[in-house]
Amino acid sequence: MDHFLYRDGILHAEDVPLPEIVAAAGTPVYVYSTATLTRHYRLFEEALSPLPHLVCYAMKANSNLAVVRTLGRLGAGVDVVSVGEYLKAKAAGIPGERIVFSGVGKTRDEMRVALDGGIRQFNVESEPELRALSQVAHAMGRTAPVAVRVNPDVDAGTHEKIATGRKEDKFGIPIARARAVYAEAARLPGIEVVGIDVHIGSQLTRLEPFEAAYRKVAELTRVLRADGHDIRRLDLGGGLGIPYARSNEAPPLPTDYGAMVKRTVGDLGCEIEIEPGRLIVGNAGVLVARVIYVKEGEDRDFLILDAAMNDLVRPAMYGAHHDIVPLVEPPPGAEHHAYDVVGPVCESGDTFAKGRPLPRLGEGDLVAFRSAGAYGAVMASEYNSRPLVPEVLVDGHHFAVIRARPSFDELINRDTIPEWL
Ligand code: LLP
Repeated sequence: MDHFLYRDGILHAEDVPLPEIVAAAGTPVYVYSTATLTRHYRLFEEALSPLPHLVCYAMKANSNLAVVRTLGRLGAGVDVVSVGEYLKAKAAGIPGERIVFSGVGKTRDEMRVALDGGIRQFNVESEPELRALSQVAHAMGRTAPVAVRVNPDVDAGTHEKIATGRKEDKFGIPIARARAVYAEAARLPGIEVVGIDVHIGSQLTRLEPFEAAYRKVAELTRVLRADGHDIRRLDLGGGLGIPYARSNEAPPLPTDYGAMVKRTVGDLGCEIEIEPGRLIVGNAGVLVARVIYVKEGEDRDFLILDAAMNDLVRPAMYGAHHDIVPLVEPPPGAEHHAYDVVGPVCESGDTFAKGRPLPRLGEGDLVAFRSAGAYGAVMASEYNSRPLVPEVLVDGHHFAVIRARPSFDELINRDTIPEWL
């Protein structure tokens, strides 16, 4: 459920008509709903209760400071994958003890910044990383709390590019090697083992792969405890999918997920951490765009929008589906027409949808891409020298621009012409 609904025939974000935001911020523009963010965070909170737990929002899905602060105020921790995200989390007010640092390629500099600023846990993904962290922490006279990310060799059954838990994927340490790695971790100076981490992929639409992975983690917990390690936290990653095509998709709900977590690892007495990104912010955002032209092709009509693949890359990159709806509600029974929905960027890949049935639209009409709050703005670029798409946050009757569209001067002045030219 989200808070983008038609009221009096106009699509609203909570209590704000979207055309009002367009009048203030232009198009294309991302718009997020505070009520939806809050609702989704609370769903996870409730689903995991009464287990001791921390929901660590995966900032990679949407790292706008206002979004992160909204979740932080509700008590969320965050999962970061770069020093940039770490510093943004701090700037948004997330205390170090609620920040988990994931990722296969943390540099020594990144480790130093996190150790200095405070960190809940490093999710370590390889032996070389473990040794580097030990050296850095030891040299600083610090102790780094560590969970080792294990690769359980489970197929998440999701898109090839976002499956992370199979042995051919670059992530984690093969679960069969875990005992040896934990033994080394226990010997290394500057390292304190606190738990186990696993994350098998994103946009999972079934619980079975999670369940298979978590059962392996439960078994490993028992083995490692018998080896003498104090396994007190389990980080179960993110990955729960959302319905992108609302008419025919119904992925499991956080409550189902929570019940499965309790069933698989609930009796171990561990504190549970989860790292949801998409499920918290995905359906809390839309991308609003304007129709520039309707072009009649040889055998199809093209709806040419002012949003493009640089603003929302998911369709071009993963063949992803996003529902597209007009801002003015079509009358019941309105005739639909099949459009190829495209952007102005100079490649054919800049196509959002092919043969998409939509009510008849014309120049100047406004449309919204639904489910665009996750991996939308964060993956945007300035390809074709199109200024980075702005973002707006709505809360009830209020809205604010939370990242402004850069001016053309800013865009031009970002480059430097060397003196010899
Ligand atoms: N934790 C780790 C270690 C991750 O790698 C990810 C996502 C998450 C948590 C959050 O997963 P979520 O709950 O959002 O599924 N750009 C792609 C998605 C990439 C996901 C990468 N890792 C897309 O647009 O579909």
